[in-house]
Amino acid sequence: MANSTLEPAKTAEPRATKPSLAKALQSIFSKSEEPNESKAIAKRRRFVMAAVLGTLSVNLLMFLRFFFPRALYEPKTKFKIGYPSDFGFGVDTKFQNQHRIWVVRNTEGIFVIIAICTHLGCTPDWKPSENKFKCPCHGSGYDPEGINFEGPAPRPMDRAHVELDPEGQIVVDVSHAYSWPKGERSQFGDDGAILHV
Ligand code: FES
Repeated sequence: MANSTLEPAKTAEPRATKPSLAKALQSIFSKSEEPNESKAIAKRRRFVMAAVLGTLSVNLLMFLRFFFPRALYEPKTKFKIGYPSDFGFGVDTKFQNQHRIWVVRNTEGIFVIIAICTHLGCTPDWKPSENKFKCPCHGSGYDPEGINFEGPAPRPMDRAHVELDPEGQIVVDVSHAYSWPKGERSQFGDDGAILHV
């Protein structure tokens, strides 16, 4: 006999579908790319930050530079060379390299010759054996007091201002020179051109 009660129709159970290969690959790659991408972003950020900081630092340095003027440190023009008793008769060359001067003592006193040839500005050499200064550039010659007597030099070499400080040391000032231009009065006897010691 046929069963008159109708059994409820079985609903079809959803078939478990296998994940497609494409989806699987996508999930693998999307997971592995994430950290790489964030690393790249962090790297870019660091690069931009470094560039910004570098630019700011350069600008800051340029700004600060305005407060420090470009100073040109030149040799001192006024300096002490010792006591008169330190200098014997004749030409003393010990300050030639440091200050470009010679200290000379003669029968009248002590004076300082500025070691610059009056032709074109070379530094003459002191030749003790010849008792003269000789310029290596064009051959001008000067006697032990710096008076020209040969070559193209037009006049004697200049002398620097000299004075004694309160302790009795000789102070030389090469920014204050005494000269003897050709055909004009000599300044070599002026106050400050020689120390009568
Ligand atoms: S520079 Fe000294 S002779 Fe010319």
